[in-house]
Amino acid sequence: MKRQIGRTGISVHAIGFGAWPLSNVNRPSEEQALEVIARAVEAGVELIDTADSYCLDDNDFGHNEGLIRKALDAIGVSDEVTVATKVGNVRPGGAWVTRGRPEHIRAACERSLERLGVETITLYQLHAPDPNVPLEDTVGAMRDLQETGKVAHIGMSNLDLDQLERAQREARIETLQNQCNPWVRGDVDSGLVERCRVMGVTYIAWYPVGGEIGHRACASHPVLRELATRYEASPYQLLLAWLLGLGDHVIPIPGATRVASIQDSAKAAGLQVEPADLEAIGSLA
Ligand SMILES: NC(=O)c1ccc[n+]([C@@H]2O[C@H](COP(=O)([O-])OP(=O)(O)OC[C@H]3O[C@@H](n4cnc5c(N)ncnc54)[C@H](OP(=O)(O)O)[C@@H]3O)[C@@H](O)[C@H]2O)c1
Repeated sequence: MKRQIGRTGISVHAIGFGAWPLSNVNRPSEEQALEVIARAVEAGVELIDTADSYCLDDNDFGHNEGLIRKALDAIGVSDEVTVATKVGNVRPGGAWVTRGRPEHIRAACERSLERLGVETITLYQLHAPDPNVPLEDTVGAMRDLQETGKVAHIGMSNLDLDQLERAQREARIETLQNQCNPWVRGDVDSGLVERCRVMGVTYIAWYPVGGEIGHRACASHPVLRELATRYEASPYQLLLAWLLGLGDHVIPIPGATRVASIQDSAKAAGLQVEPADLEAIGSLA
């Protein structure tokens, strides 16, 4: 199953890979991280989500982008995989601090281009709006980067509908990346997921299986376990199937530190789940 990225003309496997756990505090060895990325691609994954700030702190800045470049160079598939990176956060002392000033966006883009080893970033996402900088200024800087060819397409993350519409007035926004799973389904209930479909914006779901800690509770949920037995699938695949069932414009990006996790998740793209069961998954909370 393939999904379009906005109106870019790029289509990718319906399950993307979120690379954050490979750079988090509980990160695996570099050898294992490279293996996870390679096996994700082997399993069909064509969208890898990263960020310049996926690292431990500012001394480690760019760790995740560096890993992805290394992995893709080693397997020689750079052209077949869309790498979506993000800008707009810094990590002093390990904290997450927004930085949306145009001069930061411009400088950070140069560094991401270098780390990723590309002349153009295929999908450049704003990680989160900076409350101290007008969103229009930040998005305007991203549009300027697009006009100079350093960025092919623009995405947003952690925006509400009003902010998305404001961003859309400044530049063509192809994707919105927000938290979404059956326990955090505000964007479904508010209509934002549906609104994205109408706007031609791909909705990328982060924490699709509950996040680095929450995923364990999701996996052991009795309803999911029962459905997993019936569908001969994993509880994780059922959560991902629920997201895929929200619309053809939804792409979940499950993370993994183990090869088995992303291999399992990728199979969700082929799982057919009855509407009544999808509804049951959506009502788990
Ligand atoms: N835009 C934002 O602000 C934002 C915020 C958070 C995350 N994100 C993005 O969203 C991605 C996903 O979020 P996340 O990685 O934090 O959380 P997640 O995908 O909900 O959960 C990741 C954890 O779930 C486990 N898992 C996933 N699929 C599994 C499967 N099929 N079988 C068994 N275990 C499975 C993995 O365990 P193992 O480690 O054991 O493999 C992994 O560490 C991130 O990687 C990042 O790219 C974006």
